Amino acid sequence: MGFPQYRLRRFRKNEIFREIIRETHLRPDDFILPLFVRPGKGVKRAIPSMPDHFQLSIDLILKEVKEAKSLGIPGVILFGIPEKKDEMGSGAYAKDGIIQRAIGEIKEKVDGILVITDICLCEYTSHGHCGVVKNGKILNDETLELLARIALSHAEAGADMVAPSDMMDGRVAAIRRILDENHFEEIPILSYSAKYASSFYGPFRVAAESKPQFGDRKSYQMDPANGDEALREVRLDIEEGADMIMVKPALPYLDIIYRVKKTFNIPVAAYNVSGEFALVKAASKLGWVDGEGVMMESLTAIKRAGADLILTYFAKEAAKKL
Ligand code: PBG
Repeated sequence: MGFPQYRLRRFRKNEIFREIIRETHLRPDDFILPLFVRPGKGVKRAIPSMPDHFQLSIDLILKEVKEAKSLGIPGVILFGIPEKKDEMGSGAYAKDGIIQRAIGEIKEKVDGILVITDICLCEYTSHGHCGVVKNGKILNDETLELLARIALSHAEAGADMVAPSDMMDGRVAAIRRILDENHFEEIPILSYSAKYASSFYGPFRVAAESKPQFGDRKSYQMDPANGDEALREVRLDIEEGADMIMVKPALPYLDIIYRVKKTFNIPVAAYNVSGEFALVKAASKLGWVDGEGVMMESLTAIKRAGADLILTYFAKEAAKKL
């Protein structure tokens, strides 16, 4: 059947018709809010390239978590800025580390919202890499033990889910093993499986003070040119015990989100990263785009592509609009 019997514009005539055939609906529980935690009390440091986002001390983080909960956002993901950094990133797995303390406080004072933690070394190492460095190389297997220790320390502090973002081979298996050995078999792993070596992470590295001090992350994060390889990453992570997988960044990788969802039919998260957020905010400030429109359209596209969950700096703003 074709035109003139069939006219697709009939259902575009008004908002009620458009609504009844709408295929994708955003909801506040699609979003996870990333938060940056730093030591101190009453500390609120602006992040220049990320309007309305701050490095916050734990007391102020609590307010953010409560607000997120009141907006219907189901979880936050925490990134830590430690007091001091060293070669081995020991602040990442210290019992009284910044994240461990933040989890404890949140769990004590707010319930009914998930605390997800990023498992990585880059914010804690003096060299800024996501693994152990020797002679200028990022070592894989030596890093696994540290990642496992980070995950265990987060679980012990009360984290609801751990999310390894380092891109070392074999880390999901190492984390699953240590969690199970310590009776944390019920803690799920959200693996950043398809994490690309992306230029879209710039603002985050300023926010988290995690820029590599030499070289780049191309020897562990994925080449933006590759799609099939992302499926191999995801397959391995599922075999190693990942419960949910992540594609990161989101908008430039909608094809990857789509393929992962179609191929594996498992829960998929997408990280709408700092650079994606900053571009929209900057262009909107210049009056070059309608920021709110671009935000909602972008989030809708990420969900339409197949994401079940979106980690996004827009979480509060978008939830307020819904
Ligand atoms: C840590 C990590 C990064 C992001 C999340 N976890 C940065 C990186 O790999 O350098 C980026 C998130 C963002 O840009 O919003 N490995």
